[in-house]
Amino acid sequence: MPAHPEELILILDFGSQYTQLITRRIREAGVYSEIQPFNLPIEKIQALRPKGIILSGGPASVYESGAPKPDPRLFELGVPILGICYGLQLVVVQHGGKVKASNRREYGLATLHVTRESALFAGVREASNVWMSHGDAVTELPAGFEVLARTDNSPFAAVAHLDKQVFGVQFHPEVVHTEEGMQILKNFVFAVCGCQGLWTPKAFVENTVAEVRKAVGAGHAICALSGGVDSAVAAALVAKAIGDHLTCVFVDTGLLRKHEALQVERDFKTYFTARFVTVDAAELFLQRLAGVTDPEEKRRIIGNLFIEIFEEQAKKVPGGVDYLVQGTLYPDVIESVSTKGPSQTIKTHHNVGGLPERMNLKLIEPLRELFKDEVRRVGRELGLPDAILGRHPFPGPGLAVRILGEVTRERLELLQEVDAIFMEELHRHNWYDRIWQAFAVLLPVKTVGVMGDQRTYENVVGLRAVTSVDGMTADWARIPYDLLATISNRIINEVRGVNRVVYDISSKPPSTIEWE
Ligand code: XMP
Repeated sequence: MPAHPEELILILDFGSQYTQLITRRIREAGVYSEIQPFNLPIEKIQALRPKGIILSGGPASVYESGAPKPDPRLFELGVPILGICYGLQLVVVQHGGKVKASNRREYGLATLHVTRESALFAGVREASNVWMSHGDAVTELPAGFEVLARTDNSPFAAVAHLDKQVFGVQFHPEVVHTEEGMQILKNFVFAVCGCQGLWTPKAFVENTVAEVRKAVGAGHAICALSGGVDSAVAAALVAKAIGDHLTCVFVDTGLLRKHEALQVERDFKTYFTARFVTVDAAELFLQRLAGVTDPEEKRRIIGNLFIEIFEEQAKKVPGGVDYLVQGTLYPDVIESVSTKGPSQTIKTHHNVGGLPERMNLKLIEPLRELFKDEVRRVGRELGLPDAILGRHPFPGPGLAVRILGEVTRERLELLQEVDAIFMEELHRHNWYDRIWQAFAVLLPVKTVGVMGDQRTYENVVGLRAVTSVDGMTADWARIPYDLLATISNRIINEVRGVNRVVYDISSKPPSTIEWE
């Protein structure tokens, strides 16, 4: 269900590691932009009615046979085009110019000198740093093209056919190291393409609410709430559209943090208008997990039981259910819209285990165009509190994958106590919001200690806190020693059964964030 806003900057992807970044920057400027594969058929491109098109960078060389190239009719659409790096080289070659492997490869910073006035460089300093990353270079400009800027190694660092509104830059304006990069992208979007900046959380909410209302009509939708940001914002959006035509199901697996199930229920009743069903399944989850130590087996058991319960609830909705709401985000979507082709097969890992097919449900994915930070802004626009929007990510299998070895009620409660102290101290010392994710892990080993005059032989807990942008890579958070000392003292003093606390100082990769 695409909520295509009136203004679209289309990014055609040639495989650069920076393609997502271009999209993010354009959106930061207040204009909607989306990524499509480079070979999206020209009719589909026209149907999207983009205000401008950006050709991304990519690892190929334009002169190799089989190098990815856009349909040449792209340049006849009358839509302004900006080629970046490989995109610039395509622009040049497809207009009859020449590109060769350069003996002066350029990686890293270079000084850009603007040599000709143009809309693209309006307000950009005559000399500024830009980020270069290319082995091939333009050697001959096509007819009608002019040079707009140069660096010492690149006489054609920025070129344009001003009448046709076709531009190319050899450097990467989307990368922060390019000092005037944002200004250049804004110039392209506003001055060249004539966008107004209509991409705001408010506009997104209005468009999406209208579309969901229209699509669902008199039907009924169901949504699984996890307590996390994505499902909360997805549910809030759909609830705003269809009110009690939405049923939210919250399965309390008993594997959440201390008091978290209560918190989710309370938040939900305060901020949502949909029907709400809580299923207390803690006992059932513990039963099924009894004796299981293998992490993947734990995940499989939890996933299957979750689906079983959710499906049961879906069947109970009076009048039946037609739609399933899911909090799929844009990074999951673009992962499948790669340069391999215009395939739109979306990863199914967010699907509630084949439920849409079995129950013949249509999907509603209101966040499928958003990045995580945009989801938070939309949530704020919907009036959700920071307590929901700022919550650290939490794995679906919950504390089961943080209790190494068997999950028992006793071990679960012990870990909940430890984790609660850790969270409390992070909040108290203003560290919670500076961290991507923090949690405690209960290890399956006991160590010797001494408390008073007594020798003890008890559990070890590990503390993990990481900084990250997207969870794909992460570094351990440099929490001050004094704060770690406070946390460790409190845990050992207050939680019976723990006599040792360790802090995890591994980055991802090579470690993962979770321990299982
Ligand atoms: P890892 O441990 O792979 O975690 O570095 C990356 C992010 O994913 C979360 N995670 C999960 N989320 N089901 C989930 O919904 C899972 O099985 C799962 N395993 C890891 C993890 O908490 C981190 O944010």
